[in-house]
Amino acid sequence: MQITESHRTTELSRLTTLRVGGAAELWEVESVGELHTATSEPFLVIGAGSNVLASDEGVRERVVRLGRSFNTLSEFEGKEEIWLGAATPLPGLVRRAQQAGLSGLEGLLGVPAVLGGAVAMNAGTRFGAIDDTLQEVELFVDGSLERLPAAALGLAYRRSQLPLHSVITCVRFRLTPSTPERVQRQMEQVDAARKGQPKKKSAGCAFKNPQGDSAGRLIDQAGLKGLRVGDAMVSLAHGNFIVNMGNATSTQVLELIELIRAAVGRELDLEWKLWGF
Ligand code: EPU
Repeated sequence: MQITESHRTTELSRLTTLRVGGAAELWEVESVGELHTATSEPFLVIGAGSNVLASDEGVRERVVRLGRSFNTLSEFEGKEEIWLGAATPLPGLVRRAQQAGLSGLEGLLGVPAVLGGAVAMNAGTRFGAIDDTLQEVELFVDGSLERLPAAALGLAYRRSQLPLHSVITCVRFRLTPSTPERVQRQMEQVDAARKGQPKKKSAGCAFKNPQGDSAGRLIDQAGLKGLRVGDAMVSLAHGNFIVNMGNATSTQVLELIELIRAAVGRELDLEWKLWGF
């Protein structure tokens, strides 16, 4: 492994939750100055590594990841208005908000993301999404920091329209006063709804839900649970998850996706970002 001050060559299979993908140059940045250097050539931004299917051939772009200095969870003081760094883990924030008796993020319980990635995907569940509470972001774009209100980010169901070649560095939320007990009760509902989701390595739901329906239900109804191409398998727990049973490759995952689409016979849009294809 080649190591320099701020970047090194690694495998995308180590950076993504599906554990698939070839070589990439990872630029882990700890400051805006480092972000400047890292983004001087074509780049992709990675957060927690869910929602990405990376090619076995790897990617030519640099992969930029915000380091620990952009995780500011420890500065969360339980105020309704919060600015937090984009590498702050969402699960930790959901928990801290509950403890502080602040409502608004409980619908995001269990979403494996850091805040920047959660905004970029408008992450959510049936119980709520990031755009319910998001007020503003700070992003690094064209060499400087800019602030944009949430309304300017084109947030919709699992998508955003961030400025090209931008990196979210900070996010501002406004939460609503409640009590720890009330937020906890709401979280229990969200948790119960996720019980049917697999524990195995996956990239989250593979497909967006078609309007008014559930991709998982359609895939299940078509009898596809357990369908396998190599080590890529349709989860037995939930039809909309593709799990890596060991050493799945991106080719196998893509082949499985095409088999699912053909068998379901409905247009199914991928929720994931495809890298390097
Ligand atoms: N269903 C089946 N078989 C399955 C899966 C689901 O019959 O294999 C049925 C369920 O019984 C239920 C319906 O389909 O009646 C909906 O299923 P579920 O409650 O699991 O919700 P979903 O629509 O499949 C959505 C989000 C999830 C989120 C859950 C819980 C999408 C694509 N999925 O799933 O988000 O966790 O609601 O709120 O929007 C993600 O986006 O990565 C994700 C996992």
